[in-house]
Amino acid sequence: MILSCLQVGILATSLAIFRAGIVKASPSLPRSASSRQVEFPAVDVPSHINPYPDKPRITFSSSGTFKLTVFSDLHYGENPWDDWGPQQDVNSKRLMRGVLATEKPDYVVLNGDLITGEDTFRENSTTLIDRIVAPLNEAKIPFSSTYGNHDNEANITHLEEIRREQLDSYLSYTRTAPPGIGGEGGEGNYWVPVYEKVTDLTPALILWFFDSRGGWSPGSTSAPLPDWVDDSVAGWIERETAAMEAGWDSIERRERGALAFVHIPPHAIENVQKTLNSTANPGLNADTLSQGSTQATTDPSSAGKDQPFWDALNANVKNLHAVISGHDHGDEWCAREPTKDVIFCFDKHSGYGGYSSPGWGHGVRNIVFPSADPIGGLESWILLEDGETTARVTLDGNYGR
Ligand SMILES: *[C@@H]1O[C@H](CO)[C@@H](O)[C@H](O)[C@H]1NC(C)=O
Ligand SMILES: *[C@@H]1O[C@H](CO)[C@@H](O)[C@H](O)[C@H]1NC(C)=O
Ligand SMILES: *[C@@H]1O[C@H](CO)[C@@H](O)[C@H](O)[C@H]1NC(C)=O
Repeated sequence: MILSCLQVGILATSLAIFRAGIVKASPSLPRSASSRQVEFPAVDVPSHINPYPDKPRITFSSSGTFKLTVFSDLHYGENPWDDWGPQQDVNSKRLMRGVLATEKPDYVVLNGDLITGEDTFRENSTTLIDRIVAPLNEAKIPFSSTYGNHDNEANITHLEEIRREQLDSYLSYTRTAPPGIGGEGGEGNYWVPVYEKVTDLTPALILWFFDSRGGWSPGSTSAPLPDWVDDSVAGWIERETAAMEAGWDSIERRERGALAFVHIPPHAIENVQKTLNSTANPGLNADTLSQGSTQATTDPSSAGKDQPFWDALNANVKNLHAVISGHDHGDEWCAREPTKDVIFCFDKHSGYGGYSSPGWGHGVRNIVFPSADPIGGLESWILLEDGETTARVTLDGNYGR
């Protein structure tokens, strides 16, 4: 495609295209901080459309697989005024450390509601982020976050948490969308390229992260923020995907896979729950989706407001393997969303903070790409803290048909 000057200008700022074409391969992590001890070869690699020119490339493992572990709804900082609250964070930290040690994922996603923001204090709310990322820094595993409705409250915002996370960890790949994209409290829209091999010219997989906002404006308990991905993100998805294709296709033509994360499930998921089948859709199904469970449902007049996002995501992002959400702690199933023919999965509630019920337990969702095949199936399952695995599914072209 041919880009106008205006488009190129926008792309150059939002995507950091390197017009000279050749730059040094991304530097290696300091003190061999890579979980896989990748040695970066001393070759020159064209670095087109790389939003992380100063960070190591995220790659598939040397055996050709890529494993993600998703911690969701960690809800740190609950009830700081009693003994119960701080003990929940001790438990969550134990869970994170234990899972990271046994799973050794290639990448970690924190899928929203990192903090129970309504219980935090203005003077120290973001210090909770230091505690959350500590186990990731210790394990030296690259990661990034979406932020949730509890992360926008009187004493905390998504942007404050993102900035703190970036400050805390060289291994954080969380970014903000360009100014004007995402709406107030919805700054966390970005994508992360994953390369099959560190020397590859273009990525094999794109991880997308979207900000479903929700919660409250800072300092306010009377102005709720919209609880859906803002309309402006739809156009941004279109422009980013066009830029990726224009930039990368000029170097090499290849199909690439994609996976998307957003804290609050898209509104369309509410209907999906009505046709679950325990064989095809295993896993806890204890939260009935209703007002507030999916995007754009807290206020009846907002119904369907996430449609521009949902349409743009599914129309523009090719080979989208699945869309992954948290938010509803009692649900952990995967299913095919029929209106877009796309697979959706809930996370597993990881945090000891946040609502729960006896028997739900705490754990993570693991997702494994057996290869970099852009249309190959993924393996995914829930891992509970005690090591039990449940709800194992193969997410491929036949899944849910
Ligand atoms: C923040 O300060 C409050 C009040 O001093 C205290 O109760 C709370 O534990 C502190 N929280 C953190 C995360 O340090
Ligand atoms: C926010 O922080 C202030 C100052 O630390 C504190 O007085 C207040 O209780 C906190 N929470 C809310 C909801 O305002
Ligand atoms: C449930 O899903 C399984 C596996 O896909 C399928 O074989 C079975 O026919 C489905 N049951 C119903 C009632 O749809």
